Amino acid sequence: MNNFIFENKTKVYFGRGGVKEYLGCLLKKYGPTVMLAYGGGSVKRNGVHDEIMGILNAQGKTVVEFSGIMPNPTYAKVQEGARLARENNVDLILAVGGGSVSDCCKIVSAQALLDEDIWEMEMTKHTFPSRFIPLGVIVTVFGTGSEMNAGAVITHEEKRLKSGVFGAQADFAFLDPDYSLSVPFPQVISGAFDTLSHAMETYFGKPDENNLSDDINEAVMRSVIRNIRVLMRDHDQYEARSELAWASAMAENGVLKIGKITDFQCHQIEHQLGAYTNCNHGRGLAVIHPVLYRHLYQAGAARFARFAQNVWGIAPKGCEEATALAGVEALAAFIREIGLPTTLTELGIPGDTDLRAVADSTNLTAGCCRKLTHEEIYQILLECQ
Ligand code: NZQ
Ligand code: ZN
Repeated sequence: MNNFIFENKTKVYFGRGGVKEYLGCLLKKYGPTVMLAYGGGSVKRNGVHDEIMGILNAQGKTVVEFSGIMPNPTYAKVQEGARLARENNVDLILAVGGGSVSDCCKIVSAQALLDEDIWEMEMTKHTFPSRFIPLGVIVTVFGTGSEMNAGAVITHEEKRLKSGVFGAQADFAFLDPDYSLSVPFPQVISGAFDTLSHAMETYFGKPDENNLSDDINEAVMRSVIRNIRVLMRDHDQYEARSELAWASAMAENGVLKIGKITDFQCHQIEHQLGAYTNCNHGRGLAVIHPVLYRHLYQAGAARFARFAQNVWGIAPKGCEEATALAGVEALAAFIREIGLPTTLTELGIPGDTDLRAVADSTNLTAGCCRKLTHEEIYQILLECQ
């Protein structure tokens, strides 16, 4: 096991009815002004907004609403939120939504207390914020696991970059699977696949030998696959929904990454595809993963063979490479089985998208079992068409 330091400061309230039971009491710890942040309106339609407003009002809080946070949140939206938080001296940001709302608020929390532009600070000066407006997250759609880490993914439209930015980590997070029952089913599956992707991108990192993180990871991957299959038969089954909700947090709360350098090459490609097309995150990953892995499995044959056997239950073939490839094909078959897109066309990517620019602006990751070139990423994107 490599050396590591581990801490996760987010207190998790998991399960049905948690907000009603605990949020009011929690709010007493914070000052009078709460910024209630959410997306395009699903929380108004499903009653979650009303429930939270009732609790905030009962606690006598002054509520500042920050709404309209879009999927794949933009840097301009972050700046709008930061201005609002600053002007109103916000004491707590309550992010109610999925990864997009949570990510946007993580950066709002930091930017509101900074005198400089956080993008330039992190990307150019490589310094990171240390002061934050406290943040709490109420998850309404599962998959990203954003609620238990400090990373945010923000689209800078002018720069045509969708990049990781570091911001606040939530003090607390509510994960109530009931809040996600109104999520359109394709998004449920997209989110669950994002979870599987996070687990894979960690598993295929380095080192790829014997370690506890990977043993736990295999259990997470098997659980995600099993519970997606349950939901394919019974869309609203609470047990499967709740297992997937916890798996999504587990895949991104750092536990699986202990002692590892993660891969995340697929995410880097998908993020840039998103920067150019605003595509859905989990569905974009579904298109890219099998194609990318067909390029990589020979370089990481032992690890891909273990993935085939321990995650997909495939019996060893004549040689390691054959077993490895069978694992990649099992993943591809699963993506078809659960109705995710398998090509850029199915994903709805316009045919005239500048895939060369997408490839050239993609980060190359250190944890990938073979470092790719931008030319190879371009070939991968062409094969995705
Ligand atoms: O905006 P509203 O109206 O709320 O609708 C949202 C949105 O359209 C809807 N939704 C959310 N909760 C709902 C609901 N609809 C009905 N009922 C509910 N209860 O779902 C749609 C998608 O929401 P979004 O937050 O965009 O989805 P997701 O959680 O998948 O987040 C995606 C973003 O997170 C980033 C992605 O790149 C993308 O920008 N990621 C963040 C990560 C992190 N911070 O750790 C890791 C991931 O790899 C990922 O990159
Ligand atoms: Zn992801």
